[in-house]
Amino acid sequence: MPLNQLLTIDEVAQTLKITRQTLSKLINNKDIVAIKINKSYRIPSEALENFFKRNSSKQDLSHTYLKETRGCTLTYPDKDAEEEILNTAANAALKQVVNAHNELYNAVYFGDNLEVTRALLPELKGKVDLIYIDPPFATGRDFNSIDQNHAYSDKLLNGEFLEFIRKRLIILRELLSDKGSIYLHIDKKIGHYVKIIMDEVFGFDNFINDITRIKCNPKNFARNAYGNYSDMILFYAKQRDQNIWNDVKDDFTNKKRDELFAKTHPVHGQYTTHPLHAPGVTLDGDTGKEWNGMLPPPGRHWRYSREELTRLNESGFIEWSDKGNPRKIVLAKEHKGIKIQDVWEFKDKGLSFVDYPTQKNHDLLKRIILNSSNPGSLVLDCFAGSGSTLYIANELVRKWVGIDNSPASLAVIKANFAKNDIKCNFFE
Ligand SMILES: C[S@@+](CC[C@H](N)C(=O)[O-])C[C@H]1O[C@@H](n2cnc3c(N)ncnc32)[C@H](O)[C@@H]1O
Repeated sequence: MPLNQLLTIDEVAQTLKITRQTLSKLINNKDIVAIKINKSYRIPSEALENFFKRNSSKQDLSHTYLKETRGCTLTYPDKDAEEEILNTAANAALKQVVNAHNELYNAVYFGDNLEVTRALLPELKGKVDLIYIDPPFATGRDFNSIDQNHAYSDKLLNGEFLEFIRKRLIILRELLSDKGSIYLHIDKKIGHYVKIIMDEVFGFDNFINDITRIKCNPKNFARNAYGNYSDMILFYAKQRDQNIWNDVKDDFTNKKRDELFAKTHPVHGQYTTHPLHAPGVTLDGDTGKEWNGMLPPPGRHWRYSREELTRLNESGFIEWSDKGNPRKIVLAKEHKGIKIQDVWEFKDKGLSFVDYPTQKNHDLLKRIILNSSNPGSLVLDCFAGSGSTLYIANELVRKWVGIDNSPASLAVIKANFAKNDIKCNFFE
């Protein structure tokens, strides 16, 4: 680029992969020099070069700025530039108050999670394999225990709430390892806005699932509306297809097993049969040819090579109907379980059965941790509440870090860990 060239706002915004709005913030903050010519601004190419030089040592510019998702961004007042969020240092140092071991993990930090995650960034950047967060949901309410003791307030609303979440997500993204994932639990009133924010922060390509979580029993109410008995969990990878994925399956219930494997084989027990052919025509390959005196039905091909079909037949794994149709025998005992879909039923217990309001179902956390982390992985929950994520991560032999700024949360975590003999360092 010639050094004395004058660039338009659009050209610079495109080069930096930021919106015009973010660029004007950078100009206002004097991060980048612009010259006003008539009524519009121009940026000298030298100023852009200088800006690159100043920033490229700090961050990878390709993801430093507000990303567009599907050609648009969510706008609201006081949305800060990503660069500003990333380059703001923590306001205070962390102070250890309980020392149970000498590692950075298996620790609970009492304080605002933006400050704490910023303070942890130098040590934990790129090291966290799994983040589960269950932040406040912008309900405008206070949450109390069954005895009416205050647990936490959820008073940030609308754009203020979204910016609160976005700032934390940007730092959390930096903490995630390349094989890391994040699950964000949210309700359906604000969740769709949060989805757009997550697309901006993590990239739409890294979106994996919007899981519907059935949270309670259908309710009777007078509103002219369908019942609201689910919330949502947004699941993203730091880098799609590199994320840990253990493909844990659901066990069959006996009822489901009887339904799916209704027949009984004299040697192999419960079984069902599957067709030996599938839609689509093989023009020249083996799976379109005659086997055992028959061709696949019109418009279909054999699922297996003819050699494999013969092997299955000779070993007794093909069942022939009275009309001479062959089907493959599939045994219940060899089935790996049911593939988990994106509607999960994990109801929360009532207030009188939990230690903390909005405490999440432990089996839900178990599924997430088993699927998206490995033994020894570091798991982070920076809206820790009762410490349920940390508790289950510990049970599943993962390392863990929790953060919360509620004294009630800290008290519940301390009591539970002491009761279960869980060694934890505490910081403020
Ligand atoms: C919905 S609760 C989490 C419940 C938790 N998942 C459980 O199973 O017990 C949200 C938690 O976020 C905490 N919180 C809210 N804002 C915070 C902040 N800025 N920093 C740290 N914790 C925060 C609250 O104190 C509260 O404990």
